[in-house]
Amino acid sequence: MNGVGLYIHVPYCRVACPYCDFVKKPIEGDAPEAFSQALCKEISAVAGGEPVQSIFFGGGTPSLITLEALATIMDTLNGSFDLQSPEVSLEANPDDVTRERCAQWKSLGVNRIMLGVQSFDDEALRYLGRCHDSAVAREACEIVASEFDNWGLDLIFGARPSSSFVQSLETSIEFSPPHVSTYGLTYEERTPFWRRRSEAIEEDDSLSLYRMAMDRLSGHIHYEVSNFAKVGFESRHNGIYWRNEEYIGFGPGAYSYRDGIRARNHPGIARYLDEPGRKSETLTLDPREIRVETLIQHFRTRNGLARAYYEERFGSTLDKDFGEELARLEKRGLLDRNTERIWPTREGYELNNEIGLALV
Ligand SMILES: C[S@@+](CC[C@H](N)C(=O)[O-])C[C@H]1O[C@@H](n2cnc3c(N)ncnc32)[C@H](O)[C@@H]1O
Ligand code: SF4
Repeated sequence: MNGVGLYIHVPYCRVACPYCDFVKKPIEGDAPEAFSQALCKEISAVAGGEPVQSIFFGGGTPSLITLEALATIMDTLNGSFDLQSPEVSLEANPDDVTRERCAQWKSLGVNRIMLGVQSFDDEALRYLGRCHDSAVAREACEIVASEFDNWGLDLIFGARPSSSFVQSLETSIEFSPPHVSTYGLTYEERTPFWRRRSEAIEEDDSLSLYRMAMDRLSGHIHYEVSNFAKVGFESRHNGIYWRNEEYIGFGPGAYSYRDGIRARNHPGIARYLDEPGRKSETLTLDPREIRVETLIQHFRTRNGLARAYYEERFGSTLDKDFGEELARLEKRGLLDRNTERIWPTREGYELNNEIGLALV
């Protein structure tokens, strides 16, 4: 599959969840028109007609964009890039989902919905400061499942009460989602949860919840550290990140990676509306850094890294470039290998950061 991935960051939410560190601003109504105008300006300025294999509307809350704005954005993308029947994902919050909206999203080319369920337990949802309750989450799952073949839901483990996670997993499975993402709750420094970080569950307990997810989601392929999918429903867009291939990010705070350069749009929303596409960071990676990052990303996935892929991409061999590091990681039980590829073991999934640290 050829072509870049496009990430579009929608920085608005109904309320700001107290644990969330993403670029976002709470608003009452829909995402403002000034935003979609700025976005279209940025897209038109960057685009060079290249082939695109995936488009991901992430947030923030992309389900707050009006349908008119979404139609305009899709038209602009169509006029600016060579869309190769792309996967078009949209993150939706359960409280924004209706049958009618799903039909409209579909008619505009969205073919994959990621639902931010987080939990099916009302107490845990209140702990996380979410707008929806369990009944709304269930209804949203029913609607999305009946409207889209390709959809998924996000769950958070480690919210209080942490014991409710198992029930949330069971409820998730009842809806047969082709895709499930599970993230351990983190208490981020620039969020209200930082002051409450002493409430974080113990690492061992977090590991038990992660293991529980692996166990209960055994009907899915655990194809990446935090992601589970039925065959054929793996995220094409995230696959680009996990292979360390090229993507272009639009919207405030969005990252792009092209020609060995990683750049970030300025994260200020007001600034973005004035000067869409202005960068706040630009970093040219050296060849070694690109190789290291390519390894780290591949070792987040079940398939790991194929030796032939590495040789073709970098004109060198894994053993020559990383022989010692890889041998050590294998000895520690974090990686396994055969003559064709190297991949993370179960322990390598559980302690995935360790692989990154060792390679850096
Ligand atoms: C940034 S949100 C955007 C999607 C949507 N607004 C939502 O909240 O569902 C994407 C995902 O990141 C995860 N997330 C955000 N902050 C997190 C945190 N501090 N700990 C764990 N997961 C987090 C949530 O699971 C969420 O579904
Ligand atoms: S978790 Fe989602 S809904 Fe909540 S503030 Fe972050 S982006 Fe917005």
